[in-house]
Amino acid sequence: MLVAVASAKGSPGTTALAVLLASLWPGDVALADVDPAGGDLALRYRGPDGAPLEEDRGLLSLGAAVRRGAEAELAPHLQPVAGGLDVLVGVSAPEQVAGLGPVWGSVARALRPHDRDVVADCGRVLPGAAHLPVLAGADAVVLVARPDVAGAAHLRERVAALAEPLRLGEPGGTPLGVVVRTSERDRRSADDLAALLASGGTPVPVLGVVAEDARGVAALEGQRPGAGRSTFVRSGRSLVPSVRDLAERRRAPEAVGRRA
Ligand SMILES: Nc1ncnc2c1ncn2[C@@H]1O[C@H](COP(=O)(O)OP(=O)(O)O)[C@@H](O)[C@H]1O
Ligand SMILES: [Mg+2]
Repeated sequence: MLVAVASAKGSPGTTALAVLLASLWPGDVALADVDPAGGDLALRYRGPDGAPLEEDRGLLSLGAAVRRGAEAELAPHLQPVAGGLDVLVGVSAPEQVAGLGPVWGSVARALRPHDRDVVADCGRVLPGAAHLPVLAGADAVVLVARPDVAGAAHLRERVAALAEPLRLGEPGGTPLGVVVRTSERDRRSADDLAALLASGGTPVPVLGVVAEDARGVAALEGQRPGAGRSTFVRSGRSLVPSVRDLAERRRAPEAVGRRA
């Protein structure tokens, strides 16, 4: 299954949430950097031997393979990183995504291999974004937002803009859920945000909270001992099942078809 993590506005912790979900995901998983504004996973990670990751093996080489016509395999474009994840390195500058324009649909298909799940950091989704096929082709889209007035307003506006490309609420449409970045003690924001979204006409589930915890983020990303006890990681442990449930909604009819 492919889970696309994205944000409506600003820098609410999209990459941190994608890293968190991929780190806690059960089974084989890859973390894909699909942020068209230029990703930073390549900067955050090192190879298992401590060497920097190769810049040109990742989204760009996958795009080139797809452009050559073959239905591209994801695996050759992944790089193992210290800590055990496999990562699809993203572009280092927004100009580099221009050439991917016509092949985003095929890239989206390559991000749903049969042998593993993929968590994709899709960065900020602006209206008309080139990488919308990755969101539309995902089993679930997770939008992360802050619960303040501006965060909520942008979220509602972006959910409305995504309704058509994701065919929200239609059979076969892409399931969309929201994760709120807030203090783990904040019991209100998730409900308030859900009510606000419902009043916008498209009911979108709020999947839960990713805890505000800068030290926890740094500990996980730095693979420090004890990172697993942070409130950040604890919040991730309860999010993973909710995200998987959301994605299963889309996968269910197809999985039945494959078994038959
Ligand atoms: N849950 C969180 N709690 C505290 N700080 C966070 C959290 N998520 C992200 N951050 C911090 O916020 C900044 C932006 O996070 P990042 O994941 O890069 O956001 P985005 O991908 O949306 O731009 C980084 O400094 C990161 O460490
Ligand atoms: Mg990011």
